[in-house]
Amino acid sequence: MSNGKLERVTRAIYPGSFDPPTNGHLDVIERAARCFGELIVAVVVNPQKRAPMFSLEEREAMLRESCAPFPSVRVEHFRGLLADYVNAEKADVIVKGLRVVSDFESEMSAAMMNRSLSDVDTLFLMSDQKYSFVSSSLVKEVFFLGGDVAALVPKPVLAVMAAKRNLQRR
Ligand code: PNS
Repeated sequence: MSNGKLERVTRAIYPGSFDPPTNGHLDVIERAARCFGELIVAVVVNPQKRAPMFSLEEREAMLRESCAPFPSVRVEHFRGLLADYVNAEKADVIVKGLRVVSDFESEMSAAMMNRSLSDVDTLFLMSDQKYSFVSSSLVKEVFFLGGDVAALVPKPVLAVMAAKRNLQRR
């Protein structure tokens, strides 16, 4: 309590497909956890782009394990409009990661759309430049063609990917 007003922690939502989570995502999560009292990492159930390679359960499990060191972070999922989910969770802000300038173009229109739908602002955090080339789609492509992505994804993610690749080889 300060100045007679109840203080409430700032709740942020970091949405994404996380198919799979990468070290770039984890870097944004770690930075956002330092900025906000509560951080919800929200996995979209059906990504708009294409059917996910990893099930919702797999994506949530990989994130939960990877986010275990951050006590203010919880992993949830949502379907439908992000703006509706933000309202339902009474979140204060959406967090998005930016890797390169070209990310900003699409993210800016998404941020404006979300603000027009729910009056919520989007704050952008830049991931470390060592992850500027890392995307979930490239990681999947390289890994399933036999490339080494150990430096690009959290350990729990690598284990799930390896298990999936072994299943596919059978
Ligand atoms: O990791 P991604 O695929 O870049 O995440 C995209 C995501 C999930 C943030 C975006 O597709 C989204 O918000 N989907 C929910 C549907 C929605 O609200 N669409 C309008 C966005 S302005």
